[in-house]
Amino acid sequence: ESRRYQSSAVAADVPSFAFAFDIDGVLLRSSAPIPGAAQALSHLHNNNIPFILLTNGGGKHESARVAELSEKLGVPLSEDNFVQSHTPFKQLVEGSETIGSLKDKTILVTGGDGDKCRRVAEMYGFKNVVTPGDILMAYPTIWPFSKVFSDYYNKSTRPLPRPVDLNNIANSLKIDAIFVFNDPRDWALDSQIILDLLLSKEGYLGTYSEKNGNPNLPNNGWQQDGQPPLFFSNPDLFWAASYHLPRLGQGGFQASLQGVWEATTSGAALERTVIGKPYPTTYNYAEKVLNKYRTQMLGGNGGKLQRVFMVGDNPESDIRGANEYQSPLGTKWTSILVKTGVFRAGTQPKYVPTTIADDVLAAVKWALKEEG
Ligand code: G3P
Ligand code: MG
Repeated sequence: ESRRYQSSAVAADVPSFAFAFDIDGVLLRSSAPIPGAAQALSHLHNNNIPFILLTNGGGKHESARVAELSEKLGVPLSEDNFVQSHTPFKQLVEGSETIGSLKDKTILVTGGDGDKCRRVAEMYGFKNVVTPGDILMAYPTIWPFSKVFSDYYNKSTRPLPRPVDLNNIANSLKIDAIFVFNDPRDWALDSQIILDLLLSKEGYLGTYSEKNGNPNLPNNGWQQDGQPPLFFSNPDLFWAASYHLPRLGQGGFQASLQGVWEATTSGAALERTVIGKPYPTTYNYAEKVLNKYRTQMLGGNGGKLQRVFMVGDNPESDIRGANEYQSPLGTKWTSILVKTGVFRAGTQPKYVPTTIADDVLAAVKWALKEEG
């Protein structure tokens, strides 16, 4: 029985709850919709029950990804109810309370296919975006083993904004911040370039500073506005792709880089900022997106959002994040773990959900029953 919530209804008849759906392992496996996913989202759409998609995935601009997902899942989605791993980085274009504007700074962006993530960063407003491929094509000896990928890099690289000129350092290429937007495709090249930059004098490529990585120094590296210059968008060590076993995610690259850094510096900590689920930064950002979308969708009659059902497949990100998030608005986040992704049915999840459901459709049915 599907009740229609009239958008002009008084607040009493409007749902005081909403959903946040993870994508990989809940709605899709790689690019294939999971059975029941389209039906679950259509039911909510047809009954005016707000939801957002909240993914640690990325690699394309939100506008491109929502167009694909709307097609695959048969429901209209927009950037207004969609948060990817790197979406919150938009805020760093103009700057945040912890770091100044990076709009006109030179940033390194890695991850994703070709230089798609460069173009995402430029669409966000970053003006000077360099990729590891750009550096490799300009200085092929910087990493001796990526020649085999020349055809790939030839298609997706640009000349550097300025050369490495160690005799005229003021005019030499300086990277002000390093962003991992999505899973790197060439872990070796990206690790070498990022290591070079972290060991450099203030981000000047080709320089080396003994101070960096000195475990005896409090912050053993150069900083951007007092912040470590390294940003990751997604901590997932594993994720659910097409293969039947979980695959290494961006968190795998982060762990690998941390290993290289610790070996290089005899144990210095790798200072970095990591966003994405399970971290409160991302849940707080997602809650703001959800509230704005819900208000617009319910024509301002929504009343206070009391509860969000977070449906995910990864206890370490989706479930932990929802369980630990303390909403400043007092909204209750309820975690629902599904069996169609990373979580193996029958095992004990390290982060315990409110309930476990077979799939996303069962999760939605359970939640709607909860809400009566
Ligand atoms: O790269 C995507 C993967 O880390 C997990 O994505 O949608 O399950 O948060 P998702
Ligand atoms: Mg997932």
